[in-house]
Amino acid sequence: EKIVIGVDIGGTTIKLGICSSEGELLHTHEGPTGVEDGSDAVCQNIADYARLIIDESPYSWEQVEGVGVGIAGFLDIPNGIVKLSVNLYFNNVPLKDILEEKLQTKVLVNNDANVAALGEAWAGAGRGISDCVCYTLGTGVGGGVIINGKIVEGFRGMAGELGHMSVVPDLEAIQCNCGKMGCLETVSSATGIIRMAKDAVQRGDRTSLSFVPDIMAKDVLDAAKAGDEVAMRIVSRAAFYLGKSMAAVAVILNPQRFIIGGGVSKAGEFLFEQIREVVRKLTPEVAQEGVEIVPAILGNNAGVVGAAGLIIRS
Ligand code: BGC
Ligand code: NA
Ligand code: ZN
Repeated sequence: EKIVIGVDIGGTTIKLGICSSEGELLHTHEGPTGVEDGSDAVCQNIADYARLIIDESPYSWEQVEGVGVGIAGFLDIPNGIVKLSVNLYFNNVPLKDILEEKLQTKVLVNNDANVAALGEAWAGAGRGISDCVCYTLGTGVGGGVIINGKIVEGFRGMAGELGHMSVVPDLEAIQCNCGKMGCLETVSSATGIIRMAKDAVQRGDRTSLSFVPDIMAKDVLDAAKAGDEVAMRIVSRAAFYLGKSMAAVAVILNPQRFIIGGGVSKAGEFLFEQIREVVRKLTPEVAQEGVEIVPAILGNNAGVVGAAGLIIRS
């Protein structure tokens, strides 16, 4: 029986899973990423955890067909090089080569959100449809475009970086981690929502958030649901730019489904209704017919399952 290892590299945790060739998650393992120790240490951790997960499972290395890896950042996908990962402090790291050398097996590297999209398309909210676009709303805003069941990688692997669509108008734009102004990520990520909330509190706006010691995105979403006007304005701003970017994507790709995952998406229908409203308003009627905007369903496992899918579905 052949198996595949899927690896999801996050800012704090590396998650691994052993998957069957049908994408069934058979065994999982996780450990600290160790970002503070530098990229060499992170690579070593990935290799160590991969050996560990096999050791503690009923499977053996002989059964491993390959290792699929999802990692946040701009990647040269064909060559498996992490060009720039701001949160992981990776700069031009040849991840594929390093891991193939350490593990002596085939390794495929792809963007974290692309991989989560593949997972959702394969075994989650996009099951059975061939064209979908996924957004992950977390620390950053990730994007993954699946057309004909495959990840769209673009010329050098930079396709699907939906968080860096410049959507905020100049006068209101702030600089993104990528260096450019007005990216979707600056307003629709958890980080962006927290920043807007802290700004409001600092300005002295009247809001229940002034009484929250260390504001998290969830606090803002909960306050908005409870009718706090400042929080409602922040959430509707996040929803507006997300919807605006989707309206653009809708006329470029006409996907059947938009799938939204990540921590912020847990706000549920409250958030989804606002996003749908914006997309309805900004997309030509004929281009929105039948197009759905739905929550992701694989949750934390999308990355691991999708990463395994890189090997199985390639
Ligand atoms: C990065 C993406 C990543 C996303 C979610 C963004 O800041 O540019 O590569 O997919 O965050 O982690
Ligand atoms: Na992506
Ligand atoms: Zn950006």
